[in-house]
Formats: sequence, structure tokens, C-alpha cells
Amino acid sequence: MKLGLVLLMIALGLCGQTTQIGDPEIWTQFESWVEQLKALPPGERLPMKGRFAKDLAAAGVSAAEAGRRYDRVETLRRASAEKERVYWNAAFKSGGGPDAPLQLLQETVRGMKPGRALDAGMGRGRNAIFLASIGWDVTGYDMSPDALKAAQAAAEAAKAKISTVEARHDTFQFGEAQWDLIVCAYCYMRFEEEQWPAIFLKALKPGGVVVFQTSTAKRATAAEQAARWRGYRLLRVADLDPGMVDNDWAPSRTNPTGMLVARKE
Ligand SMILES: C[S@@+](CC[C@H](N)C(=O)[O-])C[C@H]1O[C@@H](n2cnc3c(N)ncnc32)[C@H](O)[C@@H]1O
Repeated sequence: MKLGLVLLMIALGLCGQTTQIGDPEIWTQFESWVEQLKALPPGERLPMKGRFAKDLAAAGVSAAEAGRRYDRVETLRRASAEKERVYWNAAFKSGGGPDAPLQLLQETVRGMKPGRALDAGMGRGRNAIFLASIGWDVTGYDMSPDALKAAQAAAEAAKAKISTVEARHDTFQFGEAQWDLIVCAYCYMRFEEEQWPAIFLKALKPGGVVVFQTSTAKRATAAEQAARWRGYRLLRVADLDPGMVDNDWAPSRTNPTGMLVARKE
């Protein structure tokens, strides 16, 4: 372990500590750990939990306590966008997520004429790079600067050109009649959030398409989906049991997967 990290842990009083610490301390420790964490080169990956536990073990924290702290991080991160940003920085410094482009996206763009595409919550760019490689002019945004660094490094390695923007869903300027395709692949927008269909409808060019796939806690009936996605023709809608599709971000999740492809009429 790096000397800097050991010193930091000593400063935080964490060395040799096997007793439980509280949530604020856990988060402070995690944030400091992410700050000094080295990004892996493109193509390499290590489980984030393993990296965290290993560094804590080197500072004398028991495996059980390290595991407990990591589990708390998984809960605490959901408290704010800023915490999510820190969490995703760690994930992308560790090469997180699948490499293959989303199956639903591949099936949807087959036969479509390439145009301008937007990848919302793009992560390290598997879908953006795929689209660029088949002729799309792609912009992606993400709240995590380390996701964008990883996406640009992966694009360079693939000799693909993509534009990236650091933004959150609630700060990104979607614009008006800008996009032929908008992709949300497990991008942390929720199906039940009412604003997205209208924002996308305005942002899409006539005939533009939305590809939306995410794990979802709340199932929606076909009638509910049709009501939400007013102004679109629904090309594909599915609300599938866990395991029915390859949830390539979280294969062990027990949530159903929602899939939707909609075209602006
Ligand atoms: C599960 S990953 C999916 C990444 C990518 N779409 C893919 O399929 O590989 C979720 C991504 O959403 C991003 N994200 C989460 N909440 C966000 C928000 N409010 N605004 C922008 N990006 C967000 C995270 O930084 C992360 O890159």
C-alpha cells in the first residue's frame, strides 16, 4: 500500500482498527481512498470491493469490518448525487462494467441510418464507442469525471471519436431537435420519473429513437407506459423478471429489467 494512504489512515485514526466506525467516518474514509486510488489502464479491471478491503486490511482493519464498511458505502452513496459521483469515480478507476455494447441497442440501430446520438450516463463508453464505430456522431455525458477519462481512453484505443461532457442528468442541456438517438443503458434515470419522456421528445429530431434499459423496482403496465410515452410510437416494451435478460451490469440483481424502444412521431 502507498505510504500516502497509510499516513492518511493514521491521520484518520484508522490503522489497526477493527472496531466498528460510524457512517460519517466510513464515508470520509471512502472518499479519501477514492481520491488516491490509481486508475487502471484500459482493458484492466479489479473488483472495487476487493481493492478497498485489501487497502483497509493493510492498515490493520479486519476483513469482516472492511466488508461491513464497503456494504455501508453501497447504501450511503445513494444519499446524494455528490456521493454517487465519488462512488462511480472509484468504479471507473477500477475498470467497472461490461465491455460489450447493450444488446437492445445493437438490435435497435441495425438498419438505422447513422446520425447524432446521445449516450446519457455513458460510463466508460461501451455504447458510445460502439455507435461511433458504425458511423454515428456521438456525444456522451456522465457525472463521473473518471468515467469520462476511461471512456476517452477506451475510444482512443478503439480508434473511435466521441465527444464527452461532464454533467448530471439534471444539469445536462438536452436541447431541442438535436438527436436522432438517445440511449440510457442502466443510466440511473428511472422509468417512473415522469420528466424524461417529455425532455427526450423535445430533444429528439422528428423520427428520433430512445433506447432505455434499466433494472426497475416498479413494474409498469403497457397502458401506463403508453401514457408516459405520449408523442412516441412504442417499438418495444418489456418489463421482464430478473434473469430474463442479461443484466450485464448486475447479473445477481433480483430486480426486474425494464426495456423500452420508442420513436418520436
Ligand atoms: C451502471 S453505470 C452504466 C454506464 C453505461 N451507461 C453502461 O451501460 O455501461 C451508471 C452510470 O450512470 C452514471 N450516473 C449515475 N447517476 C447519474 C446522474 N444523476 N447524472 C449523470 N450520470 C449519472 C454513473 O456515473 C455511471 O457511469
